Amino acid sequence: MRLAATAGAALALPQLAAACGSSDGGGSGSGGVRDELKVGLLLELSGVYAVNGQDMRSGFELYLAEHGVQLGGRKVNLIVEDIGGDPSVGVQKATKLLRQEEVAVASGIVTSSVALAVRDLFDTGKVPLIISNAGANALTREKKSKYLFRTSFSNWQPNYSMGQWVYDNVAKDGVFAVSPDYVAGHEQTDAFKQAYTKAGGKLAGEVHPPFATTQDYQPFLSQIGKANPKAVYAFFSGGEAVTFVKQYAEFGLKDSVPLVGPGFTVEGVLKAQGDAALGVRSGLHYTILLDNPTNKRFVSAYRQKFSKDPTVFSVQSYDAAQLIDLALKKTSGETANQEAFAEALASVGEIDSPRGKFRLDATTHNPVQSFYVREVKKVGDGLGNVKIGDLGELADPG
Ligand code: PHB
Repeated sequence: MRLAATAGAALALPQLAAACGSSDGGGSGSGGVRDELKVGLLLELSGVYAVNGQDMRSGFELYLAEHGVQLGGRKVNLIVEDIGGDPSVGVQKATKLLRQEEVAVASGIVTSSVALAVRDLFDTGKVPLIISNAGANALTREKKSKYLFRTSFSNWQPNYSMGQWVYDNVAKDGVFAVSPDYVAGHEQTDAFKQAYTKAGGKLAGEVHPPFATTQDYQPFLSQIGKANPKAVYAFFSGGEAVTFVKQYAEFGLKDSVPLVGPGFTVEGVLKAQGDAALGVRSGLHYTILLDNPTNKRFVSAYRQKFSKDPTVFSVQSYDAAQLIDLALKKTSGETANQEAFAEALASVGEIDSPRGKFRLDATTHNPVQSFYVREVKKVGDGLGNVKIGDLGELADPG
């Protein structure tokens, strides 16, 4: 895995070296030459979600590379900051981007607790933040903002959509829920429980191992085993997903107790998980195997540029760049009028994404999008999330 370059360093795209103009984040230059557009990326490039953060960086970079390193006709100066999944580092780096760098717009953030921590800085600074992963429900509900947008999901979405499906296809009772003990972990399993119990399902129990510090899941797996469940619904991501899914198989649960969950548990980590992931069924708004022309083109361009497969994290970040581009085309590249820029972001309409076409809800600024059931199967020489069902289009209730 490619690790973070120096935190705070400007992106080393060759074209950027040639970019000139003042460092003012907004407005246009005088004399006919547009100033560069300063864009901040807040990413987990270290810690348990480093793989997610790296994919998000690559997705954003691919969009820029495909568009001459321009958004809305302005040359982009991309400033990447490593926030390591730590809310206090997130606040420090977001403050730097806003006060020191004076970025016109920012994107990124894997972790819900970090997104919640920086939310007010962007809201009061009136600088748009395009969250390209973190799913904290509040950011689409009581803490939504004119300046907050999401090209990813609310934690509620992929999990609520799996409740009825698990009831119909996996087990009518006896499902045990497991997720890390932080805001996103709880929101993910809670949304599943809400839909599963509404369908008539009965849970066998739940457990929440400490977030970002658990390396040995054995005590939790033994608690799960003792409950004698018919299935386990698990949310983990990044490094934690690798460890959990492998230990689930090593512990001997894999063959007797089917593992299901939101797609994150088996997204971007299949190589590291290996055969331990085979058969896992999960709900998500993307799989690399989606059969649409935009996805086919995207997957091939991404493979060519990075020599690896894209993930939902790459797509969400690619679409964040696309959203900014579409909005800036409506404002002729202007960002100085922050309200007008935010209004343009809110009204871009349909986005042609590798996930399929989607739009942002007008009041929540959260994607209205289709969800799928995937199953990890052997594909070619490796493993892939093969679509096995449609869960339909779903918007967060707001
Ligand atoms: C989150 O913290 O919101 C989060 C992190 C990783 C995921 C999904 C959601 O894969």
